[in-house]
Amino acid sequence: MLTLALSKGRILEDTAGLLAQCGIRLDSSAVDSRQLILPTDDPGLRLLIVRASDVPTYVQHGAADLGIAGRDVMLEHGGEGVFQPVDLGIACCRLAVATRQGFDSPRAAVPGKRLRVATKYVNTTRRHFARKGVHVDIIKLYGSIELAPLVGLADAIVDVVETGTTMKQNGLRVAETIMRSSAHLIANKNSFIIKKDEILSLYEKIRAQI
Ligand code: ATP
Ligand code: PRP
Repeated sequence: MLTLALSKGRILEDTAGLLAQCGIRLDSSAVDSRQLILPTDDPGLRLLIVRASDVPTYVQHGAADLGIAGRDVMLEHGGEGVFQPVDLGIACCRLAVATRQGFDSPRAAVPGKRLRVATKYVNTTRRHFARKGVHVDIIKLYGSIELAPLVGLADAIVDVVETGTTMKQNGLRVAETIMRSSAHLIANKNSFIIKKDEILSLYEKIRAQI
């Protein structure tokens, strides 16, 4: 039996479609319920519903053999104990730095000044600005990140952009892209050894659909 951890919302929706193409169906009443362990019609596969940022943790510790997580989330986690073999090409977006329209970034980033940056992606943000030699105070948020510069909580944010609509509707502009992201199938390193045949069989089915 393989256990696959993933988050509700866009990743579960796209994955359900992908699994259906592989001939594996989910029970729609279970998907719409509050159940956190979802069976599939394949007795060899069940799903765990977790927060997107928790997927690598479940896989790292072997509570799930497999997971589906954005590259952004993997970079933030660090990826210890986890293989990232397959890009599923879903949940495509980029992680970007953004500020209010008209914010004077070069002036704010001068030596001696600290830029206040709000984000969910604390580790990635710290690394990004350290590489540029910009001193930052990072403010950890859990959602509605785009609000922070509008109400003076931060000078800039690091967050996900896809169409750019959320940034635009909140008067923000993208200053730079840190990375592109899409969701990957990830695997626990021990599971990959112990359950190699089961994992490879599922890999092959999924690979054939992407
Ligand atoms: P958490 O609950 O852990 O804070 P989240 O709210 O970011 O996670 P989702 O919004 O479901 O969870 O996003 C899951 C993944 O999908 C993200 O890690 C990112 O890779 C990608 N993603 C986020 N927003 C978008 C978007 N608007 N378009 C495409 N992909 C996105
Ligand atoms: C994500 C992300 C951005 C938005 C970017 O939010 O946190 O706010 O998408 O997409 P866009 O560039 O197409 O506007 P999501 O849709 O997941 O909503 P939530 O995180 O606020 O629940």
